[in-house]
Amino acid sequence: MSNESRIAREGQRLRRRDTLALTLIAVAVLFVLWITGAASLWVTASAALAIAALSLIYFLSVSTMSPTTGLTPSPETDAPAPVAAPAREILEHLPFPVLLIGQGGKIERANSAAHEFLGLGSESGLLSASLRQPQVLEAVSNILRGEPARTVEYSTLAPIESHVRVHAIPLKTDDGGAFPWHALLVLSDETSSKRVARMRSDFLANASHELRTPLASLSGFIETLRGHARDDSEAREKFLAIMHDQTERMRRLINDLLSLSRVEMDEHVPPSGHVDLAAMTLDTIDSLSPLAESRNIRIDFEGEREAHVVGERDQLFEIAQNLIENALKYSTPGSRIVCDIHADIGPEELDRLTSSLGSGSGRAAISPLANSTGKRFALLRVHDTGKGIERRHLSRLSERFYRVDGQKSGPREGTGLGLAIVKHIVSRHRGGFFVESLFEEGTVFSVCIPRPGASAPQPDQ
Ligand SMILES: Nc1ncnc2c1ncn2[C@@H]1O[C@H](COP(=O)(O)OP(=O)(O)O)[C@@H](O)[C@H]1O
Ligand SMILES: [Mg+2]
Repeated sequence: MSNESRIAREGQRLRRRDTLALTLIAVAVLFVLWITGAASLWVTASAALAIAALSLIYFLSVSTMSPTTGLTPSPETDAPAPVAAPAREILEHLPFPVLLIGQGGKIERANSAAHEFLGLGSESGLLSASLRQPQVLEAVSNILRGEPARTVEYSTLAPIESHVRVHAIPLKTDDGGAFPWHALLVLSDETSSKRVARMRSDFLANASHELRTPLASLSGFIETLRGHARDDSEAREKFLAIMHDQTERMRRLINDLLSLSRVEMDEHVPPSGHVDLAAMTLDTIDSLSPLAESRNIRIDFEGEREAHVVGERDQLFEIAQNLIENALKYSTPGSRIVCDIHADIGPEELDRLTSSLGSGSGRAAISPLANSTGKRFALLRVHDTGKGIERRHLSRLSERFYRVDGQKSGPREGTGLGLAIVKHIVSRHRGGFFVESLFEEGTVFSVCIPRPGASAPQPDQ
């Protein structure tokens, strides 16, 4: 029985007793008045009748009224309130894990998000068996002893990194006797927001470090030129050439940073123009021919000469430029680069063409296709015969400022942002970006972009 209904019943009993007592006193007073002749029999009888009627009305109204609400209660005051079922439904559909922990740390209720998050079986059992986090368990046991609400956080690094904030709220129940407390746990997964915050601060730290290095070198050379190299024309020429390279490096870095932020800004808006990927690749090869000649590397174009895709020309040009420039920078002089185009392929052909280097090669989907069933693509592959990239680096290539140790890229030293830019452009175009590499043999970067009216009635036909 709940506290409220106990109090209600006790209240009614007292009122009934008081009504009876008052009625009896009134009747006694009337009797005395009649005996002493102060009131006639007729007056006494009508007054007694009036008192009896009023008492009856009051008695009945008290016994049918709830003292707390004034409304007629349901016959069984202990039955759950009518909102209980919807509340349970709401709890069940909440997208974050919610658990109700009872005395002894037993999970009394858990919504499906909690089941999924903590991997609870059908028999939930003890919280300590599913969540081995001392701070959380301590907060729960304090709350079960009647302490106020608390928020605790915990992090795990294995098997996967996760950061979780747990709000532990005390709930008082009526049926607990000496221990009426339950703990309501609401879990919020903060892993992605923590990761984004860390990435942002890493990015700022990296960007400022990258800019500071050439800046420090420039100011060093300026000091030298003002000092002992002032009259040494040979040293001056040498230092000025290095200073020029450093300012170029800063310019490239700033351009890449701006380009990356532009690409990120409109990543959610898919492009609507039509571009011929083949013609655009040929233009890029032309624009890079001076660099290719300077490194004594030949660039061959193979495949179809027309490949229409939905895209923004400048951004697709940036993709081809980054990939071909990388191939030029990271392959040995005298080698050959092949750019090939496949104008109309489906997902299966794509799988085959992006795993072309055979056994022993490493492969990574830098930007995998979200839903490729029934879609048609044009594919650009840039194949170099350079040193290749070890398998362990492949999945990290598109991280900002990531550069494979010990790779020399000649005077055009890289910023480590090129592949990050490519990745964002590809994802804006709803395409795919893959790399495969055989160490000491070469690397193939592939980008596929959806064709106009990209769905085909049958895939791969
Ligand atoms: N074709 C390639 N062959 C070997 N290594 C490559 C190739 N393309 C990219 N890399 C490696 O990936 C890193 C990241 O490339 P990218 O983002 O374009 O930056 P960078 O400005 O250094 O070229 C490069 O520093 C290089 O170590
Ligand atoms: Mg690059």
